[in-house]
Amino acid sequence: MTKSFDVAVIGAGPGGYVAAIRCAQLGLNTVCIDEWKNEQGVASLGGTCLNAGCIPSKALLESSENYARAAHKFIDHGIKLEGLSVDVPVMIARKNKIVKAFTGGIAMLFKKNKVTSLHGKGTLLKREHDFWKIQVKNGDQIEEIQAEHVIIATGSTPRQLPFISVDNDRILDNSGALSLTETPKRLGVIGAGVIGLEMGSVWRRLGSEVTVLEAQPALLMAADEQIAKEAQKIFTRELGLVMQTGVEIKSVQVEQQQVVVDYADAKAELQKLEVDKLIVSIGRIPNTVGLGADEIGLRTNERGYIEVDEHCSTNLPKVYAVGDVVRGPMLAHKASEEGVAVAEMIAAAKQGHGTESAKVNLDIIPWVIYTAPEIAWVGKTEQELKSAGVAYRAGQFPFMANGRARALGETSGFIKVLADADTDRILGVHMIGPYVSEMIAEAVVAMEFAASSEDLARIIHAHPSLSEVLHEAALAVDKRALHI
Ligand code: FAD
Ligand code: NAI
Repeated sequence: MTKSFDVAVIGAGPGGYVAAIRCAQLGLNTVCIDEWKNEQGVASLGGTCLNAGCIPSKALLESSENYARAAHKFIDHGIKLEGLSVDVPVMIARKNKIVKAFTGGIAMLFKKNKVTSLHGKGTLLKREHDFWKIQVKNGDQIEEIQAEHVIIATGSTPRQLPFISVDNDRILDNSGALSLTETPKRLGVIGAGVIGLEMGSVWRRLGSEVTVLEAQPALLMAADEQIAKEAQKIFTRELGLVMQTGVEIKSVQVEQQQVVVDYADAKAELQKLEVDKLIVSIGRIPNTVGLGADEIGLRTNERGYIEVDEHCSTNLPKVYAVGDVVRGPMLAHKASEEGVAVAEMIAAAKQGHGTESAKVNLDIIPWVIYTAPEIAWVGKTEQELKSAGVAYRAGQFPFMANGRARALGETSGFIKVLADADTDRILGVHMIGPYVSEMIAEAVVAMEFAASSEDLARIIHAHPSLSEVLHEAALAVDKRALHI
């Protein structure tokens, strides 16, 4: 007999697995279908985030940053080390252990919450008697199930250039960049976006000569321009990344010993880059391969994203889509919150529990880039406010003038608060500096509660703490910063 569920979730990344758990918590009989296999060919829950994204990259960023501190910064504290070296396979094994613990953890959470977990590719077949028929294919094994509601959370895959084929040996995508077993002497990176900068940082800290080739005139086009400029300065001067912006990649050839990239630089002059490994990180594309989207009439836009409204409803009845496969930033926390919102809506419609019209506030989503210094922001950038003609006031404060930052020896960067010129409501907060990944949460809370810069300025911040930089930046909006 066909197994029948209230909800089928397709994809077990942070969008899908969180949606499945929340559905189950709300009493819905839920199945989660996922096809991810790890390097050993074993089913592994957690999608890109846990297997080849957020978690493994942060593990390697932490390890490599520890090495960089020991190599370059301990000496300032009077700590002398001799014979310092890196064991890359141990570093990678530690990363793999963290990934395994978390992916296994999701399997346990599924069990605890009574989510049925099926391994294989999920394909939507048709709708019959108010149920969606879904095929689950795992090798030769094919099973058909049915569910009243479907949540699509099939994520994204790396965007490719037509003339470069990623082999994860010499030419790497994010998976390959996270699994190198030795530090390449010369590393090329195409794309100075989030992956390029995070992965470039990891391997630069471990000793690679890293050259980053970026098509745009500046890096991190989504970030506030002033922050991106500061980042470029620090990454080139302090970290030693070689950055070429405004380039056009002409060809990439794999030779026996190296990869050769021919490109035109910003002055249209032809250049050649020879490297041992090349990371291609030029963005990601929504993944609907094999989902049956066209066959069932699921509407996608010209860029391949599944079209949804503000409640993540698609054009098909009782079919929702969340995470990287729909509009909005490709971030794990955005995917998860959409998953929760959809679960709440399904439960409300079916049983009266949950929230009838849950939706995610796409205007207040924190971004964090885990470089050193870290970069974090929420809300509007200055360039967005200018182009929208919004009158605003800006307050800025440097980490250099903060006692805790001095004690840490991490004084690069600043925090900037942007507030509406008339109402003083905070419109955006931009940070580059130590541990701003943690500090951005205060700005997110402030913005969700529609705080003004004066609200932040009147809140007591512990001394000495990095959070005082945010406090001072808020005071600076009214030109009354105290320590500068
Ligand atoms: P995914 O995590 O991509 O999961 C989709 C799942 O669906 C996969 O397991 C896939 O195999 C499965 N699937 C696809 N099609 C089918 C099908 N037809 N049947 C069955 N299963 C299917 N975001 C952050 O917020 N913070 C970070 O620090 C961060 N770091 C990152 C670092 C890297 C290197 C990368 C690549 C990404 C990073 N991201 C980060 C982005 C984050 O990983 C994604 O935004 C997030 O994983 C999206 O979640 P998702 O559930 O939409 O999709
Ligand atoms: P990205 O969109 O961040 O950056 C891609 C970069 O490649 C851009 O700067 C773009 O201009 C450049 N580019 C595009 N085509 C090019 C070409 N032909 N030649 C040279 N440069 C080119 O994409 P990325 O880094 O691949 O990451 C994908 C997404 O994954 C991110 O946007 C983000 O949503 C997510 N992510 C999030 C992280 C975090 O939250 N810390 C970490 C890593 C990834």
